[in-house]
Amino acid sequence: MVMKILGIVGSPRKNGNTHILVSKILEGATKAGIAVEMIFLNDLTIRECDGCHVCWTGKPCAKNDDMNAVYEKIITSDVIVFGTPVYWFGPTALMKGFIDRLVYFNCPENRAKVKGKSAVIVVPYEEENPETGEFVAAFFEKCLRHLEMPLVGKLLVPGVTQKGEVLSKSNVMKMAFELGAKIAICE
Ligand SMILES: Cc1cc2nc3c(=O)[nH]c(=O)nc-3n(C[C@H](O)[C@H](O)[C@H](O)COP(=O)(O)O)c2cc1C
Repeated sequence: MVMKILGIVGSPRKNGNTHILVSKILEGATKAGIAVEMIFLNDLTIRECDGCHVCWTGKPCAKNDDMNAVYEKIITSDVIVFGTPVYWFGPTALMKGFIDRLVYFNCPENRAKVKGKSAVIVVPYEEENPETGEFVAAFFEKCLRHLEMPLVGKLLVPGVTQKGEVLSKSNVMKMAFELGAKIAICE
């Protein structure tokens, strides 16, 4: 039973396509009675991982920034929604920096804190070529496999460029809402 879903917005653009899609997924989950929380990576200070691996010795991350609170939010959530637009055929630098910091969970001491939590990815992008979205999805799939987090939902949205443009795609908005409702009940 899902108790809480954490939505992560990796676009710097508030009210942009990623924000709107993550919100819609959380709206669907809320309607299904699940607690939700959304964070904007661009509002937080999440410094780059420098590979010191202190976190692999059972100690807190040496950076001591906003990521410490995000680790706790992840630990207390059942489903994590990762939202990022495509920036140069990859995730945004914000999202990549955030994923790098998930190395905290990639050791025996901390793995159990995320193992088995479900993940959803949301990736809007300008091009119409589906390969662009699949390429970013493949990046997430590999990372999530390492963390032993099953990917339970994937919303890749081609053909959206302008801020908020996805609102004009009613079928996509419906899919996002239904995805939220589905992940809330199917855990
Ligand atoms: C720096 C930058 C790089 C981008 N690179 C790509 C790209 O490689 N492929 C693509 O399809 N769209 C690319 N885009 C377009 C965005 O993915 C698209 O506008 C998306 O809808 C933005 O989502 P947002 O509103 O959540 O920020 C890029 C946009 C920016 C600002």
